[in-house]
Amino acid sequence: MRVLVTGGAGFLGSHLCERLLKDGDEVICLDNYFSGKRANVAHLRDNRNFELIRHDTVEPILLEVDRIFHLACPASPVHYQYNPVKTIKTSVMGTINMLGLAKRVRARILLTSTSEVYGDPEEHPQTESYWGHVNPIGVRACYDEGKRVAEALMMDYHRQNKVDTRIVRIFNTYGPRMAINDGRVVSNFCAAALRGEDLEIYGDGKQTRSFAYVDDIIDAIVRMMNQEDHIGPINIGNPNEFTISELAALAIDLTRSASKLKLMPARPDDPVRRKPDISLARKVLKWEPKIPLREGLCKTIEHMRTELGIVSA
Ligand SMILES: NC(=O)c1ccc[n+]([C@@H]2O[C@H](COP(=O)([O-])OP(=O)(O)OC[C@H]3O[C@@H](n4cnc5c(N)ncnc54)[C@H](O)[C@@H]3O)[C@@H](O)[C@H]2O)c1
Repeated sequence: MRVLVTGGAGFLGSHLCERLLKDGDEVICLDNYFSGKRANVAHLRDNRNFELIRHDTVEPILLEVDRIFHLACPASPVHYQYNPVKTIKTSVMGTINMLGLAKRVRARILLTSTSEVYGDPEEHPQTESYWGHVNPIGVRACYDEGKRVAEALMMDYHRQNKVDTRIVRIFNTYGPRMAINDGRVVSNFCAAALRGEDLEIYGDGKQTRSFAYVDDIIDAIVRMMNQEDHIGPINIGNPNEFTISELAALAIDLTRSASKLKLMPARPDDPVRRKPDISLARKVLKWEPKIPLREGLCKTIEHMRTELGIVSA
């Protein structure tokens, strides 16, 4: 297979490129390096089945490919709120361009949507049939609503133009190569604990999240692309819930840090609870996450330690 991975130099994209090359595919990695970096795929450069292209998905491109994994979009609030208009353009125009390409070359296309389409959910856990509770004018809207439009576009190109589409809704994912400065809770806590700084908790720390390790999520994405029965959307994530305070304590424990917890005011539009119902993924993809939080965090911390140049305790 000739496969295009947009956003391939990002956190998830770089792991996906690695996995596809292992599976024997020819991989074209496309990125504008807004929140990703060449270093994330530097180890793949010498593989003769790997090609790296600098391109912005907001502009059209013509490539002969069989499959498109469409990941290009900044995923952390720090990055997507830096230039919110550009974030919406990336979700809307970028997805139109990739769907246009899929239509033209008859490629199957998969969109990495997000649990953020559920907003601050009134249903718990969230199933795919829940339509969400999103603030359309809030500071997160550029991302949440952008992805909702991207999903709508996928479904319309499927219904109107018979494009072969797949949608996954990814819940919080962590692992090596997540950007240290991305403002997300796992990277914040691990980096702060490694540096011996306070771990800042927004709100009372009782809000829960589910955290999936990157290898589990990549496996689900590849399974979704390869199966014929369901176009999605399908939730993929880890349904084990942890409070933010529990995560902080674990980060301190695993880094053997002397850091303390510091309570900060809650952030606007920050959901109180979010947990995936993955019954559909279990049934359709024959998949469920395998890597426990403690094990995944250890690998993440080791990688971060190297990146930060901090010698093992
Ligand atoms: N990591 C998560 O927890 C998570 C959760 C839900 C959904 N997702 C989705 O998965 C995808 C990848 O997320 P990630 O965590 O790897 O984020 P990331 O920011 O590390 O990767 C996104 C990549 O897309 C590139 N990009 C952004 N705008 C672009 C544009 N206009 N043209 C070309 N490239 C562009 C960035 O440079 C980056 O390399 C995103 O679509 C995101 O919405 C991620």
